[in-house]
Amino acid sequence: MFTVWEAIKRRRSIRKFVPDDIPEDMVNQMLEAARLAPSASNRQPWRFLVVRDKEIRKQLSRICLRQRFIEEVPVVIVCFGDFERYSDTARKKRRQESVDSGVASTASGLFADPEFIAYIDSLPIPPREQLVTPVVANTYIAIEHLVLMATALGLSTCWVGGFEDPAEINRLFGLDDTLLPVAVIPVGYAAGQIPPPRPRLPLEEIIVKPWMHATGKEK
Ligand SMILES: Cc1cc2nc3c(=O)[nH]c(=O)nc-3n(C[C@H](O)[C@H](O)[C@H](O)COP(=O)(O)O)c2cc1C
Repeated sequence: MFTVWEAIKRRRSIRKFVPDDIPEDMVNQMLEAARLAPSASNRQPWRFLVVRDKEIRKQLSRICLRQRFIEEVPVVIVCFGDFERYSDTARKKRRQESVDSGVASTASGLFADPEFIAYIDSLPIPPREQLVTPVVANTYIAIEHLVLMATALGLSTCWVGGFEDPAEINRLFGLDDTLLPVAVIPVGYAAGQIPPPRPRLPLEEIIVKPWMHATGKEK
C-alpha cells in the first residue's frame, strides 16, 4: 500500500476503466478511511451508498450529465450529507457521547467551559439553507479520505459533482431529502497509462499576501 504522500501525488481523475471488478475488502477499506475523517463537532454527516448494479450505474450516468465512465466502471460510491446529524436530537446525543467517551475533558478554550457549551446547545437549529455548507464541507473531507485510500490500494477514481438535480439521485434510490447527494465516485482499475499530473498553481500563488488583498488600499 502507498503512503499518504505517495497517494496524494499519484491520485488522478481517471475517466476510463477496465471492466474488472474490485474486491469487497478494498471497498470496505475505503469506507473505513472515510469513517475516520474529522468533522466539526464530530457530526460525521457523511453517508455512502455502494452501487455495483449495471442498470443503476446507467441511471446514475444519465443523471450525472451523461458522463459515460460512471456506467462503465465496476463500482460507484454515491456520497451523501445527512441533515439529520444537525438535528436537536443528534446534537444532544453527540454531547452525551462526548462526555461518556472522555472527549469533552480534552476540549480547550471556550469549548472547555460548560456554560459556553450550554449556551451553544440552547441556540436554535439553523434553517436548512444554512446547514448546506457544513453538511457538504464535512462530507467532502470524508470523501477525500475515501479517494486517497482507493489510490493507496492501487485503484482509480474521479470525483463527480456534475449532476443538475441532486433530487433525481434521491428519487433513483427512493431516499427522502434528509440525505443530500454531494458527489458520485466511480472506482475501478484505470485503463491504459495513468496520465501525468494536471496543472496546479505554484505555491507562491496560493499564499495570501495581505497587502495584495487589503481593503481600501491601492494594490
Ligand atoms: C467537487 C469536484 C467535482 C468534480 N466533478 C467532476 C465531474 O463531474 N466530472 C469530471 O469528469 N471530473 C470532475 N472532477 C474532477 C476535476 O475535474 C479534477 O479533479 C481536476 O481537473 C484536477 O485533475 P486531477 O483530479 O486529475 O488532479 C471534480 C472534482 C471535484 C473536486
